Amino acid sequence: MRSLIDIVDFSLEEVEELIQVACDIDAHPEKYAEACKGKKLATLFFEPSTRTRLSFEAAMYELGGNVIGFSEAGSSSASKGESVADTAKVISCYADIIAMRHPLEGAPLVASRNATVPVINAGDGGHLHPTQTLTDLLTIHREKGRIDNLTVGFCGDLKYGRTVHSLISALSRYQNVKIVLISPKELAIPDYVKSDVMDLNGMCYEEIESLEKALPELDILYMTRIQRERFDDLETYERLKDSYILTAEKMRDAKADMCILHPLPRVNEISVEIDSDPRACYFRQVLNGKLIRMALILKLLAEKDREEDRDEGEELSSFVCKNPRCITSTEQELNQKFRSVELKERVYRCIYCEKDAVHKEEI
Ligand code: NCD
Repeated sequence: MRSLIDIVDFSLEEVEELIQVACDIDAHPEKYAEACKGKKLATLFFEPSTRTRLSFEAAMYELGGNVIGFSEAGSSSASKGESVADTAKVISCYADIIAMRHPLEGAPLVASRNATVPVINAGDGGHLHPTQTLTDLLTIHREKGRIDNLTVGFCGDLKYGRTVHSLISALSRYQNVKIVLISPKELAIPDYVKSDVMDLNGMCYEEIESLEKALPELDILYMTRIQRERFDDLETYERLKDSYILTAEKMRDAKADMCILHPLPRVNEISVEIDSDPRACYFRQVLNGKLIRMALILKLLAEKDREEDRDEGEELSSFVCKNPRCITSTEQELNQKFRSVELKERVYRCIYCEKDAVHKEEI
């Protein structure tokens, strides 16, 4: 079953396709109004969220589907000690697709390995947040007209900011993207993102503490809040919480067409006077989040339907698959199965190799 746990689970072509579908949904919402009629999305949020959960829910409603779920761990059976694996198995009986946010890193992966419906990672601890990344990519595409050839600055909590980790991973697949990492030393990007993502893909990047120094060269500035809830000691949080505050005065040194992105919620890292600056894209980014989640739900449900069609098929005693290259020729436990296709006349095809089945009388 196809799920979205890490942004690289999708190829670059698939990401491009989602961006195109999201733009089409924006232009022709009526075409999609009943696309998920009769389908249910379960939003399993073990950690607080406004945007992500509500944008998933709005997305499903706008596709004509329904939503069930919970918005805090305390109101789920997790509070009674249920495992993520069991929760995933149970919810698979109620819903066609799951969006899960969890404070523990890797929890949505565990869910996807146990669910029988697609699972979407809606944020796992300080690890990954692929649907925010799809939102960010759509926003960059719409604001800049391209995702290649950009200098992208990430500013704030690069250690715990899962949106940063996922977006860097996604950008590593585009041409000529330069990354500028702006953070205090204590909140620097994790080593694994440097070695496994940026170094491995030969990305050009620099680390710097000063936002003022970095600002003039940026095409995109991705601001993030300092993630209070992920600190082991609050003293360090208190010391670092006001590290960066983007003001109108600082913006004077930025390019005239620089885009400011922020996954939100904002605390104080972008002063509200900037909201009216045309370079502030973060509220438009929110709308993009709903559109791309609509495209994502459509894609995963369509793949699930295709997979289920593929799994079907009947055992027909009068037909055999005679393809020597078919898996049924060697796998003894496997019963041959066929599906009928209406062409000029009805033919039967092996569901494994898709070759025409042969009627036993013809052998
Ligand atoms: C982000 C998150 O949850 O990681 N928010 C979001 O999904 N829009 C960023 C954050 O909480 O700072």
